[in-house]
Amino acid sequence: MLIDLHGKTAIVTGAGRGIGREIARTLAGEGVTVVALDIRPDLLETVTAEWRDKGFGGAQILGDVRQAEDCRAAVAETVAKFGRLDILVNNAGVAGGAPIETLTEAVWDDNFDSNLKATFLMCQAAIPQMKAQGSGRILNAASFAAIIPALGSAAYAASKAGVESFTRVLAGELGPWNITANCYAPGMIPTELNHYAEATPERQELLLDTLTLRRWGSPSDVANLICFLASDQAAYITGTMIDISGGKFATQIPGLAHKAKG
Ligand SMILES: NC(=O)c1ccc[n+]([C@@H]2O[C@H](COP(=O)([O-])OP(=O)(O)OC[C@H]3O[C@@H](n4cnc5c(N)ncnc54)[C@H](O)[C@@H]3O)[C@@H](O)[C@H]2O)c1
Repeated sequence: MLIDLHGKTAIVTGAGRGIGREIARTLAGEGVTVVALDIRPDLLETVTAEWRDKGFGGAQILGDVRQAEDCRAAVAETVAKFGRLDILVNNAGVAGGAPIETLTEAVWDDNFDSNLKATFLMCQAAIPQMKAQGSGRILNAASFAAIIPALGSAAYAASKAGVESFTRVLAGELGPWNITANCYAPGMIPTELNHYAEATPERQELLLDTLTLRRWGSPSDVANLICFLASDQAAYITGTMIDISGGKFATQIPGLAHKAKG
């Protein structure tokens, strides 16, 4: 089976670093014209330099996906420059938390605005173009936290659970236009979002014990899934959440199997 994404155009939000950067890089390497959007100009500059070195086309757009105007402008610029929008990856997100008793409204709002409202705003901006084309792929970053939240992650986990529910409705509403919408649940991938790699060895062991494969995921694990979900081969997958977590949900303490193996 050959996944061929040549000639498609994508917007990847939060493409300045981490998983989004790898998704954008991988799609571009597969021949997709990628518009990399991020709120941080310093990160976008490094994307621009990398794109130039690798000879990738596409564009970099500075924008805040919590702002409807920025979302509409990003889609308008993409369509004006490249004529279409085939793939929208709503990857941008933040994580922040505290025990519910002390969780501030500001942190709650930031999680919901950045993770859930931003996904809604970007989708709303992209829908008219995808409907006009009669095709499209929308891929929203949820999280394993939507299914098994950690203590202290109420705002993040609830916002990501919202992404899953939102995606189901989105898929239902867009089915008649041959637009698919799915979300994916990555975990656990050390990035600057979570700083897993800098946790104490004891904490790292504890977290790894929850993963069937007992290793951290990598941004490229997610990028490969995105390529498949964006491809023609995934045309019959919509309205679902794909688990890409090294088996975090398979059994209760999979680390025991690794210990038993020795
Ligand atoms: N890393 C993991 O293990 C993991 C697990 C589950 C889900 N996720 C999800 O995957 C996505 C990417 O995570 P990551 O670990 O790469 O994070 P990251 O913090 O490394 O990267 C997030 C990127 O999004 C950008 N961004 C944040 N707010 C923005 C806004 N309002 N507008 C535009 N850009 C914005 C940031 O500048 C940054 O470049 C997030 O949605 C996250 O919740 C990550």
